[in-house]
Amino acid sequence: RKLYAPVRNFTYQSFHGYVLYSNFARYQKEIEDLQVYDDDVWVTSYPKSGTTWTQEMVWCICNDLDFEGAKQNIHERFPFIDFVQIDDGVADLPKFLKPLEMLKEMPRPRFIKTHLPWDLLPKQIRTFEKRPKIIHVARNPKDVCVSYYHHMKMFNVFLGNFEQQWQLFINDKLVSSPFFKNVLSYFDRCDESNILFIKYEDLKKDLGKSVLQVAEFLGVDLSEDQVEKLKEHLSFESMKNNKAVNHTEFIDYVRTANPKCSGGEFIRKGKAGGYKEEMDEEVVKIFDEWIEANLSNTKLRFDC
Ligand code: A3P
Repeated sequence: RKLYAPVRNFTYQSFHGYVLYSNFARYQKEIEDLQVYDDDVWVTSYPKSGTTWTQEMVWCICNDLDFEGAKQNIHERFPFIDFVQIDDGVADLPKFLKPLEMLKEMPRPRFIKTHLPWDLLPKQIRTFEKRPKIIHVARNPKDVCVSYYHHMKMFNVFLGNFEQQWQLFINDKLVSSPFFKNVLSYFDRCDESNILFIKYEDLKKDLGKSVLQVAEFLGVDLSEDQVEKLKEHLSFESMKNNKAVNHTEFIDYVRTANPKCSGGEFIRKGKAGGYKEEMDEEVVKIFDEWIEANLSNTKLRFDC
């Protein structure tokens, strides 16, 4: 508990060397033994890496750009299986807080989001007995850290300042950490035919190109017109104003349960390199050294 102060309300535990909420222990076995199908589609990431953006892209590509159907909340179309399941004594728990139950009722192909590293995915995936499509999205750790800070503040789960938070981040103390171990657990397998590794910065640079890359991986042909429509749907402004993906429903739920929670915007700045506005040079230097040390034995590189 001490290790993770001043993060409050939750307790944490190590699973396979990753920090997760302690209550993951309750459903770890269910995830381990999950019945996987080859036509499942997974989006995996370290938190704050552009997961929601990628999920919306993937869902629309696989559903013939059904923008009407996409009005349903992303949490319901794309269950987040390792979401904190706090079911003790909460009578009217919203559906999206019971992702494993949702999964059982979902029609196929199913869409699944997780921040779990490879090592904690269902056994059928890790052994390649089943080969669902897995799209991992990664983002440069400086922007991830800043975004994570605002996220924790928004939900009032972190009482410290930014300096305390980035120190927790680079010391691998935040949920889903260690950052590099998690991201590399997918990067190291990106030669597998069912795994695609993409980067937030590439989506920012050329969204159309990323859409085509993801569509090809998913075996879907898109016309130029469809790519244009999808780019518009996935633009920052459009997503920011789209209730189905901007998580306002969840933020409102948390604010009702906890009036101290300030709320805020989940789709916040959406920049590559936005950390420059919030990190001073000294911190950037510490991060750059930390990044370099962690990337010395891999081909993974971040643009920012
Ligand atoms: P910022 O906090 O830096 O703005 P996740 O979905 O993994 O939690 O990631 C959230 C981050 O993705 C937020 O970053 C959010 O603004 C950004 N994001 C979401 N949709 C986006 C879009 N359409 N374009 C650019 N960034 C987007």
